[in-house]
Amino acid sequence: MSLRIGDVAPDFEQDSTAGKIKFHEYLADGWGLLFSHPADFTPVCTTELGYTAKLQSEFAKRNVKVLALSVDSQASHDGWLPDIAETQGTAVNFPILADLDKKVATLYDMIHPAADDKTTVRSVFFVGPDKKIKASITYPASTGRNFDEILRVIDSLQLTAKHKVATPVNWKKGEDVIIVPALKDEAEIKQRFPEGYKAVKPYLRIVKDPSNN
Ligand code: BEZ
Repeated sequence: MSLRIGDVAPDFEQDSTAGKIKFHEYLADGWGLLFSHPADFTPVCTTELGYTAKLQSEFAKRNVKVLALSVDSQASHDGWLPDIAETQGTAVNFPILADLDKKVATLYDMIHPAADDKTTVRSVFFVGPDKKIKASITYPASTGRNFDEILRVIDSLQLTAKHKVATPVNWKKGEDVIIVPALKDEAEIKQRFPEGYKAVKPYLRIVKDPSNN
């Protein structure tokens, strides 16, 4: 069965471009982003990995450890990395799992046989410091992902893990958020959001991003 939000992200040990990786140990007390691409030496994947490398300082700021994966060998990854550096203007600065035996791809259900029974689709797993899956997305091989959106999701996950709020449509870090419907106690609301809130409807209560305070 596929992994769901709230499940523990399965631990594994696998080879990578940075040596052997024990997943939970690699994450330590941080957040994790585990994502698969279909294959080395393919054009969309080349752009995705280059862009992700450019965002490394953004991931570091958020205490997110990035880990890529395909079912290629380490030698194949090593051969491809210079192409990414050359064409995308940046060296890949995070490990790529060499999941030749499909151990991790199988654990995370990253191979969708009706699409392609040999390579991984574009899966993304967001893992919290408690090692639980907080979100996941899946794209087909032909659609490159938007890694700015991935950062935005991380911002929402990190904010909503800390505060009793949810983030509205197209929200970006720093913008107003919504008090979760389950929070009804006005004394607690006052204590959590001393600047007050705007009730557009009884169920739609807008508040300033509490992490700005
Ligand atoms: C790509 O990364 O460009 C790609 C890989 C597999 C199928 C289609 C595109």
